[in-house]
Amino acid sequence: MEVVIAPAEELAVLAADAIESLLRRDPATVLGLATGSSPLKVYDELARRHEEAGLSFARARGFMLDEYVGLPADHPERYRNVIETEVASRVAWPSDQVQGPDGLADDLPAACAAYERAIADAGGVDLQLLGIGTDGHIAFNEPGSSLASRTRIKTLTRQTRLDNARFFGDDVEQVPQHCLTQGLGTIMEARHLVLLATGRHKAEAVHQLVEGPVSAMWPATVMQMHPHATVLVDDAAASRLQLADYYRQTYDSKPDWQGL
Ligand code: F6R
Repeated sequence: MEVVIAPAEELAVLAADAIESLLRRDPATVLGLATGSSPLKVYDELARRHEEAGLSFARARGFMLDEYVGLPADHPERYRNVIETEVASRVAWPSDQVQGPDGLADDLPAACAAYERAIADAGGVDLQLLGIGTDGHIAFNEPGSSLASRTRIKTLTRQTRLDNARFFGDDVEQVPQHCLTQGLGTIMEARHLVLLATGRHKAEAVHQLVEGPVSAMWPATVMQMHPHATVLVDDAAASRLQLADYYRQTYDSKPDWQGL
């Protein structure tokens, strides 16, 4: 696992560089998309490169991590709509090439199975963007999630609903209780995991993710088992890392050609 500690703007540039180099090598790259605040600067950077340098998503495929269950199709916080607003529409990404689990399906287990098949049919995810919850979730795999789990329905913790209430007029009761989420086993099949975390409120989760024992109590720790996982954190999110100096030294002495 590589840990990079830098200001948020630099982290976004690094993540965008990794995505750009995939797209330039293979325009039909498959990207894994996260919602929430963490990837927003990356999406801004991708939009800038699309505008200014012609970075094209015309042939790329996108798969979202998760979706709320039951939010109306036109609800602005429905994750499919958030992804459209924050990234797809800004980079002229054809709508039918970006998909998420269907939180409005009559048969939710069938929708989850169909989503797993769609990812597999696309050849799997090349690079998966991730954020981390204050309770250590990735996607919406809350504490206690099976480390081998697949796309399924989950119940959000009270903590996650409180954390996300800011998107729902600060009213926790408006945050859905249920979601569909890629499982930890699904996420682990992506070829490169890139997690972004900023702010002191993420420091404990980041410490556990990087330095804690692998445990379903901190679901993100499963990333320690991934052969190519990158953790991009600012000083505040890195503030509880025991080996922060070592991570800084390692990154400072990394050859330029290496990339993430
Ligand atoms: C969202 C997702 C979640 C968020 C996490 C952090 O698609 O998968 O795991 O990444 O809840 O949210 P933010 O980035 O808003 O702090």
